[in-house]
Amino acid sequence: MVADSRPRSAPLPPRRSSVADPKALLAEAVRLGDAALELALPPGNAWPSRLHTAMRYSVFAGGKRLRPALVLAACRACHGSDAACGPGMAAVELFHTYTLVHDDLPAMDDDDLRRGRPTCHKAFDEATAILAGDALQALAFEQAALISGDAVLALARAGGSLGVVGGQQEDLDAEGAAPDAARLERIHRAKTAALLAASCELGALAAKAPAGWRAALVEFGTELGLAFQIADDVLDATADSAVLGKTAGKDAAQGKLTWVAVHGLDASRNAARMHMDAAVAALAPLDEAAAAPLVALARFVVERDR
Ligand code: IPE
Ligand code: IPE
Ligand code: MG
Ligand code: MG
Ligand code: MG
Repeated sequence: MVADSRPRSAPLPPRRSSVADPKALLAEAVRLGDAALELALPPGNAWPSRLHTAMRYSVFAGGKRLRPALVLAACRACHGSDAACGPGMAAVELFHTYTLVHDDLPAMDDDDLRRGRPTCHKAFDEATAILAGDALQALAFEQAALISGDAVLALARAGGSLGVVGGQQEDLDAEGAAPDAARLERIHRAKTAALLAASCELGALAAKAPAGWRAALVEFGTELGLAFQIADDVLDATADSAVLGKTAGKDAAQGKLTWVAVHGLDASRNAARMHMDAAVAALAPLDEAAAAPLVALARFVVERDR
C-alpha cells in the first residue's frame, strides 16, 4: 500500500462557492461533465448517423449526473484539478447511460419512459437501442483509458459479471422470488453500488491520489451506492412518474426484489440513512474541508425526490 505522504494541512486554493451545496455541485457536474461528453461523442450526423443520434438522445436527456459529480468531488477531495476530471466524468456517465438503455429494453425491465422522455428503444427501435448501449459502453472504456490503465481496470471490474452486469442478471433472476435480504443486498451492491464506487475511484485516480485516500473513496462510494439504490426503490414505490421521469410503481408490478418489498418503507428509509452515515464515516482519512462536497452529495442521495 502506498503511504499517504501528502500533508493534511497544505494550503488549498480558494474553494468554490458551491462547496457544500449539492444542487450547485450537480449543476457544475452538468456543465463540466456535459462538455466532456460532447467532446467524447461523435456528432449525430457522423456515420452511422442513426446510432450516434440514439446515443446522444439517451445521454443528453436530463439525467442528474450524480456519477460525474462523484468523479469531480472525489478528485477535488484529493486536491486534484477539475481539468483532470473530464474523461472520468464522461466515462462513468457513458457507462451509466448504457446500463439504463439496456435496463429499459423489453427483455429486461420493459420501460417506456426514461429521463422524462420515451426510452431509447421506443424512440428508435430495439436493435438500435441494443447497439447504442454497446457503443456507449465501448466509448466509456475509451474515456477511462485517457486517465490510466488502473482506471480502465476499475471500470471493467465494476461493470462486468461480478459488478453491474452480474447484478442485473440476478435482479432479473430474482423477479417473483421470496424475500431474501442477503440476496437483495448482493444485487444492490453489484448493479448500483459498484459503479458509484468506481466513479469515486476514477476521481481519485484522476487526482493521482495516494492509495489510502483511494480506498476510502471506494468505501464511501459503495455505501453511498447502497443508500442510493434503497432510495431508488423507495421512490419507485412513493413518487410520481412525472417527477421521477420514469414509470413509478413498476417494481411491485414486476415482482422485483427491492428493499421496500423485503423490509417495508420505514425500514428502507432508515437503511438508506444508515448507509449514508457509513459513507460519510468512510471519508475520515480525507481532508475534512476538501471532502465536504462529498458529504453534501451523500445527503442529497437520501433526500432527493427523483
Ligand atoms: C437510475 O440512476 C438507475 C439506478 C441505478 C437506480 P439515476 O437515478 O442516477 O438516473 P439519472 O442518471 O438521473 O437518469
Ligand atoms: C437499475 O436498477 C440499475 C441499473 C440500471 C444498472 P433499476 O431497474 O431499479 O433502475 P431504474 O429504476 O429503472 O432507473
Ligand atoms: Mg432494472
Ligand atoms: Mg429499471
Ligand atoms: Mg428502480
